[in-house]
Amino acid sequence: MKSAALLSAVAAATAVHGGPTATLRSKPRATELEPITATGNAFFKGSERFYVRGVDYQPGGASANIDPLADSDVCMPDIEKFKTLGINVIRVYSTDNSLDHDECMNALAEAGVYVMLDANNPKYSINRDDPHGSYNTVYLQSVFATIDAFAKYTNTMAFFSGNEVIHDHLNTTRSAKYVKATDRDMRAYIKARGYRKILVGYSAADVTTNRMQTAAYFNCGSDEERSDFFAFNDYSWCTSNFITSGWDKKVELFTGYGLPIFLSEYGCNLNTRDFGELEALMHSNMTGVYSGGLMYEYTMEANEYGIVEIDGGQNGSKDQTGARKELPEFDAFSSALAAYPAPTGDGGYTSTTTSQACPTADEHWDVDGSTLPDIPEGARKFFEDGAGTGPGLNGDGSQWATDQASTSEGESGTGGSGTSSGGSGGTSSSAAMRGAVPAVDMAPFVISGVVALFTLVGAFAL
Ligand SMILES: *[C@@H]1O[C@H](CO)[C@@H](O)[C@H](O)[C@H]1NC(C)=O
Ligand SMILES: *[C@@H]1O[C@H](CO)[C@@H](O)[C@H](O)[C@H]1NC(C)=O
Ligand SMILES: *[C@@H]1O[C@H](CO)[C@@H](O)[C@H](O)[C@H]1NC(C)=O
Repeated sequence: MKSAALLSAVAAATAVHGGPTATLRSKPRATELEPITATGNAFFKGSERFYVRGVDYQPGGASANIDPLADSDVCMPDIEKFKTLGINVIRVYSTDNSLDHDECMNALAEAGVYVMLDANNPKYSINRDDPHGSYNTVYLQSVFATIDAFAKYTNTMAFFSGNEVIHDHLNTTRSAKYVKATDRDMRAYIKARGYRKILVGYSAADVTTNRMQTAAYFNCGSDEERSDFFAFNDYSWCTSNFITSGWDKKVELFTGYGLPIFLSEYGCNLNTRDFGELEALMHSNMTGVYSGGLMYEYTMEANEYGIVEIDGGQNGSKDQTGARKELPEFDAFSSALAAYPAPTGDGGYTSTTTSQACPTADEHWDVDGSTLPDIPEGARKFFEDGAGTGPGLNGDGSQWATDQASTSEGESGTGGSGTSSGGSGGTSSSAAMRGAVPAVDMAPFVISGVVALFTLVGAFAL
């Protein structure tokens, strides 16, 4: 329904070669934060358990596709707000790997804020309509260049290898092995380049029919192939509680999963938002299995999840430097953060990681076995030589590059149908509607009612 309009809006936005301009500045002195590590199914800062208490930060939305960490006129006023809120993590969906991030990353470190980064962006990502073709050298060069751009900051907490590439249509599960191959390659690259161990994992859509298979898949196989954490986007708490949201059932389902879990997006906006999710996330009902979450989202966009409005920044505007206005939800979120602090102690975590058996193919999971595609031949050199200059957000893109992985298992019947496939049909999932954008990595664009309908159905179907 919305798909065609959204698609053309995104196409228009990505066609504009605007973007932030690199400016030479004197380098500020780096502030060091103690890096976050993973042990068992939890995150740690030194010997202290670390809970994600953050926001998703995407000024202008996915269609603006700007890098808010490359322009101090954008990040600085927001970092002041992050300090007021007292959050400790932000997720940033698009960053330009050809630009400098010292100023914003340093200011974030001074504010005690860690960053989780999507290593993909609309032009450089796995295309779920052509996963084999889009897993190529040009793509990996961009992913690795993003790692190069951020590995030096001690407050880079994690990289996402993909966002909601796997959705509720069976055919989207065929992209799983390419996302997981990317996840594997990112971990291998960080190791080969001698960087500290920065965590890598996938941010999943909350799809009832394949939720547990997706989770198992990213935690099966060899240690090189297993993710460092699993995250999913969950909008099922709509002024409800631990039980009516179905979160109690999800805790049961994920008990014993074996890796850290957190919500990479949360925050239903159907009713008056009081962010009661935080009470549950910080409660011993959940802390043995979950490590907090990221509230979607900081800026007010057309989909109405924001807590701060940027003057003139809506509708995909590339200019995100306008005045900041706190919306009523800003106080609500701030109050919830204050009322529900991170618990002391270890939260009942499990100190050892465990792997899962790889899921077998069934009517919801069209992935044949556990074998991952080899890295494309041309990408091997990056492990020794580094990725070189990143293409940024406005290059030619990677989806039609030809240097692909040599194996193509699991791809029977798809034939690279192109970026203009419109959405994945008429089911009620938010994921399906967001599927209109081939390049993935989009946060909910959608009418919230549809999200809620799906997630409620999801909760009942558990
Ligand atoms: C996946 O299935 C949906 C619904 O049947 C369809 O609209 C879409 O084109 C399919 N995508 C691919 C890559 O086959
Ligand atoms: C914890 O779980 C119990 C049920 O097991 C529930 O009654 C209670 O409301 C939950 N507490 C929170 C803070 O979610
Ligand atoms: C965004 O676009 C919509 C539809 O064109 C318009 O109604 C709305 O006023 C715009 N919002 C802003 C803040 O420009």
